[in-house]
Amino acid sequence: AATVHQEWEISYQFKSPDCVRKLAVTINGQTPGPTIRATQGDTVVVRVKNSLLTENVAIHWHGIRQIGTPWADGTEGVTQCPILPGDTFTYTFVVDRPGTYMYHAHYGMQRSAGLNGLIVVAAARGGPDAEPFRYDGEHHVLLNDWWHKSTYEQATGLASVPLGWVGEPQSLLINGRGRFVNCSAAAAAGMTCNATLPECAAPVFAVVPGKTYRFRIASVTSLSALNFEIEGHEMTVVEADGHYVKPFVVKNLNIYSGETYSVLIKADQDPNRNYWLASNVVSREPGTPTGTAVLSYYGGRSSPRKAPPTTPPTGPAWNDTTYRFRQSVATVAHPAHVQPPPPRADRTILLLNTQNKIDGHIKWALNNVSFTLPHTPYLVAMKNGLLGAFDQRPPPETYAHQGYDIYAVQRNPNATVSDGLYRLQFGSVVDVVLQNANMLAANKSETHPWHLHGHDFWVLGYGIGRFDPAVHPAAYNLKDPILKNTVAVHPYGWTALRFKADNPGVWAFHCHIESHFFMGMGIVFEEGVERVAQLPKEITGCGMTKGGH
Ligand code: C2O
Ligand code: CU
Repeated sequence: AATVHQEWEISYQFKSPDCVRKLAVTINGQTPGPTIRATQGDTVVVRVKNSLLTENVAIHWHGIRQIGTPWADGTEGVTQCPILPGDTFTYTFVVDRPGTYMYHAHYGMQRSAGLNGLIVVAAARGGPDAEPFRYDGEHHVLLNDWWHKSTYEQATGLASVPLGWVGEPQSLLINGRGRFVNCSAAAAAGMTCNATLPECAAPVFAVVPGKTYRFRIASVTSLSALNFEIEGHEMTVVEADGHYVKPFVVKNLNIYSGETYSVLIKADQDPNRNYWLASNVVSREPGTPTGTAVLSYYGGRSSPRKAPPTTPPTGPAWNDTTYRFRQSVATVAHPAHVQPPPPRADRTILLLNTQNKIDGHIKWALNNVSFTLPHTPYLVAMKNGLLGAFDQRPPPETYAHQGYDIYAVQRNPNATVSDGLYRLQFGSVVDVVLQNANMLAANKSETHPWHLHGHDFWVLGYGIGRFDPAVHPAAYNLKDPILKNTVAVHPYGWTALRFKADNPGVWAFHCHIESHFFMGMGIVFEEGVERVAQLPKEITGCGMTKGGH
């Protein structure tokens, strides 16, 4: 196995991803950052220099399990102290599985400021994880949503009374490029907008007629659930979150923040015209125009940059939950790559997802506990026996589900704030059932993409309505469930997942909507922390470890 080295300098730069000039957090001057390409089994070494001048940073390698290196997970407050301005931190980890992954900032709301990129891990040649499908070429699609307001303004709004909601994004980006529709309005509002900048020109994906392409698609959005379509070309879904899928064909793909997919497309359409790649908001009432890019055939008569002669696809109806639910259910393991889950769980945690009020602040909570990060990272605190670093009381395992009406506004929206964590028996099998509910406003429930650090989990089942622990587990898919690291909980629905607590460390589990996590929508698991090797001292230095314990 090889070592893949990268040297990164993180800094603010003026960027115009959607033609509107804005401060962005960049890697070596770029947003998105460089794609990390490696082969299964390689060691990745990324030396990160924080040149943000006045802001901390930490970088998470989303989908990489960090087996044996829990301190390299990059989750500020959970696995490390933040990297201070001027400091350098080296992340070293092994990419043990092939697949499509991503990285992004895990500090404050920096992810939405542009600090993100792709990790592409090729399968070891001839190994057991070789792809069960063939293709001639490969393209990468990183989907994002983009705001003109600074993340400071967004974060301050979220923490204020009354709440200042971030609102719908101004633009949808494909590989860091989009197009704000109303340049003159932007200019009138005092912004700099230039629709002719090469920086915001639509990306072009070129294909050779007759060939089959693998599109690796990742969503790093801060808010939006997306639907991705390649006009005129059906997609065969073959990979999800680094695991091979029993192939199924879709006209367009629903993709939630934190998810990755690979799809195969055949370049079998009229080569003399171009086609749209389109990204559309689903699951929230859209206030953002379609994000677009261009698919162009080599040797065709259309110039690659020419806009297709059609209007871009607008995707399915934004509120068609059934449509999206069906795709979730259709995503199961490839028959030749099934890893059967353990037949039963040792422990089941039932988590009710609600919107709550705490001292007038709007929060998200699980079983009425809203999460807050401690000042001393759990991993450091637990290895050093710093019991005062966080709430030692375990958060609740369940909620009073018998009488709870998930379709109604909660009668008592009060919740508490805690930085307590769930301690899991090392090696035990844990089920988590995420139960969605109505929000603080009547007749509203939204999709939450939940992401688990340090593990993949089996997706055992989905439902719409209230989960019944006496009934629904009997119908779990134990035959060929897909392994994933991020999964959607649909409006008024539930999602059941299972994982083995066999990766020593401390791991965040949270809604991947950046503002939801910021508002408390997450929990943390600890397992086998006593087995973690000696911590590198670079991860310490904050909270109770100031002065260097
Ligand atoms: Cu991609 Cu904790 O997130
Ligand atoms: Cu959420």
